[in-house]
Amino acid sequence: MTALSVSTSSAAALRADALVVGVAKGPKGIVPTPGSEAVNEAFEGKLTEVLSTLGATGAEGEAVKVPSAAGLKAPLVLAVGLGEAAEGDYDPETLRRAAGVAARTLAGVKKVALALPAESAEAVEAVALGGLLGSYSYGTYKADAGKEPVGELVVLAARKGSKDAKAAVERATAIGEEMNRARDLVNAAPNDLNPKSFAAIAQAAAKEHGLKVEVLDEKALTKGGFGGLLGVGGGSVNPPRLVKVAYTHPKAKATVALVGKGITYDSGGISLKPAGHNETMKCDMAGAAAVFAAVVAAKRLGLVVNVTAWLALAENMPSGSATRPGDVLKMYGGKTVEVLNTDAEGRLVLADAIVRAGEENPDVIVDVATLTGAMVLALGDRTFGVMANDDELREELHTLAGEVGEQSWPMPLPADLRKGFTESTIADLANMGNRMGGGLVAGLFLKEFVAEGIDWAHLDIAGPAFHEGAPYGYTPKGGTASAVRTLVRFAEQKANGKA
Ligand code: BES
Ligand code: MN
Ligand code: ZN
Repeated sequence: MTALSVSTSSAAALRADALVVGVAKGPKGIVPTPGSEAVNEAFEGKLTEVLSTLGATGAEGEAVKVPSAAGLKAPLVLAVGLGEAAEGDYDPETLRRAAGVAARTLAGVKKVALALPAESAEAVEAVALGGLLGSYSYGTYKADAGKEPVGELVVLAARKGSKDAKAAVERATAIGEEMNRARDLVNAAPNDLNPKSFAAIAQAAAKEHGLKVEVLDEKALTKGGFGGLLGVGGGSVNPPRLVKVAYTHPKAKATVALVGKGITYDSGGISLKPAGHNETMKCDMAGAAAVFAAVVAAKRLGLVVNVTAWLALAENMPSGSATRPGDVLKMYGGKTVEVLNTDAEGRLVLADAIVRAGEENPDVIVDVATLTGAMVLALGDRTFGVMANDDELREELHTLAGEVGEQSWPMPLPADLRKGFTESTIADLANMGNRMGGGLVAGLFLKEFVAEGIDWAHLDIAGPAFHEGAPYGYTPKGGTASAVRTLVRFAEQKANGKA
């Protein structure tokens, strides 16, 4: 794993294998950004001249290498583009992405110093987090996994706020390592990661960090009447699990419940998905991975708030014991659901977990799920949808997501769409409604299971949870850890008596 540290020594004096500086697009061409002064001096003020000869423009995502100049300890300089030159501080997301580009470009290098504009603690945290996330690689199954990630990242910070800078790097380490854990879970092959092995991983990690864990196995689920989890998991040789991971702080004034969709593989079940739609369906547990990462991060940050994560784990497979389209399930809490399409399984496992979470009377429930293809059609693959039974909560989550660099958009829960799934002829509800607005229909279905008086929000991360395109910024191919930063930020706001 990449080690992260902070230093206030000068970029010139620090011993490293590569030194990273920022460049931007000024009104008259490429300009160096704060942090690069010592490097520019070593180049006798001609750093940008040299770089533009090599084709650099300062555009976001750009990375240009130059051999070092006399006076610098590092033999290699890498210039990363920050886009338009900023008047004041650079936006944290710009810094995260630039640091991510640097870490990806320098894979295989042992020690990298980042001399990006990092004057405030916020900027230091952004550079550190981007660097750590950009260093991520998943090599579990490869004989030759290619270049090793960067071994050590040193964030160079302004001397004045060095104490804050140290705390900022510690925060980035906790959040980044937990995000990378979530990515590992998503990237694991579904023949390795099933409900039982996921529960075991959660148990081990929770033990390591001193969190309380409870696992309900298929026997306990049967005894408890968790018809949603049992119905969805019934077709698989790998039975379902409901995992509760609790972090409590003695001085906490609020409790946040996080519920994650944990379908370790979604074949669609008897309503089988066609080829072309199931190759990436190992990512259907990304919600559970996100809420798990968030609760561990909350603990590592010592937030003064209680956070309980509920992982609704099942494998959706077709077989002789699978739920049939037409079956009626009795959900936890007693509501009955006619299953019209076994591929609308996420809402069934989530319903059980939301009811169970509600029994503990949290102040708020936030569920996270790769729930609908409709949300991907609506928002694309980098933006998650935010729905809620409370307007303020929805806006709050959308705003917080933006602050931590996650793209989201508020979506409505139009009451008229409720009709589509509440008129089953034989059960209380059906698991399918109108095809149009399918992402909202799924949200409305979940809302049925939220206890009176509890604020609830739903994040549909079906788009951003798994990245299939070329890597960019700090985002690799595969699992992204979508929603983790938003959840941590939300828990933090709750800890501060806000939100
Ligand atoms: N896991 C899928 C949703 C999904 C789609 C996640 C694309 C990630 C990328 C979900 O279980 C599903 O199959 N939803 C159906 C619901 C429909 C049958 C009502 C869908 O979106 O087509
Ligand atoms: Mn499905
Ligand atoms: Zn699914």
